[in-house]
Amino acid sequence: MAESAATVAALAKLGVTGPFDLGIVLGTGLGPLADDIEDPVQVSYADIPGFPAGHVSGHAKQLVAGRLAGKRVVSLNGRAHYYERGDSGAMRLPVATLAGLGCRQALFTNAAGSLNEALGPGSLSLISDHINYSGRDPLIGDPDDARFVSLTDAYDPALRAVMKAAAAAEQVTLGEGIYVWFSGPSFETPAEIRMAKIIGGDIVGMSTVPEVILARRFGLKVIALSMLTNLAAGIQGSSPSHDETKAVAASGGAAMRRLVRNFIGRLP
Ligand code: HPA
Repeated sequence: MAESAATVAALAKLGVTGPFDLGIVLGTGLGPLADDIEDPVQVSYADIPGFPAGHVSGHAKQLVAGRLAGKRVVSLNGRAHYYERGDSGAMRLPVATLAGLGCRQALFTNAAGSLNEALGPGSLSLISDHINYSGRDPLIGDPDDARFVSLTDAYDPALRAVMKAAAAAEQVTLGEGIYVWFSGPSFETPAEIRMAKIIGGDIVGMSTVPEVILARRFGLKVIALSMLTNLAAGIQGSSPSHDETKAVAASGGAAMRRLVRNFIGRLP
């Protein structure tokens, strides 16, 4: 994994060495999940050469490595987004680093809007597939044939089955649907949300899709989980806000923590 070799070497000096069973990316307001990691080694993104600082409130910008439910995990608390600088490859080095640290699978979490009135604020949903409505692709400019990544079953069916088993065991209601990536940072209009429904969307958000594309590029299996912090714009008069996103993600985080712990315990 030549691309992340220098970062992996730098992390080794800071006490983070692979292989890990799972990489985790924690979205807005979901950072407390990392508090469950035992024997944690914490490294600020600012101390990792080349890592994006990220400038979104509600993100800790810290890597945490340790054990969770008997597995070795490395968690990235906070992500960089396309909308910060217009760079859809903003998460390239962090995702490459997960692969370089020996992760073969990654769990991406996000806060997102729901197009389904039955899955209101605080609900959890698996992502089964995505629609890249932003039209941006983080692999544009890649020099070789590795850029032609298949995204069929990008959201690994076997890992989704494990997550569903974990949800049943924890008695957590878990939806499943198609995530539509809008660039942000403005929220969608009600008209765009009506369109997102027509084209087959269930969930809307401003992240995850570029990271999933990168993860598949680097050979990671992917599972992604949305914390639905609000009904999307216009649904029942909804007008989403970042304050609401952070508050609901934080208050709904306990169910996600239980679910994720149970899921990790079930991984082979
Ligand atoms: N739209 C886009 N991103 C989001 C939303 C939303 O409604 N809620 C949380 N993140």
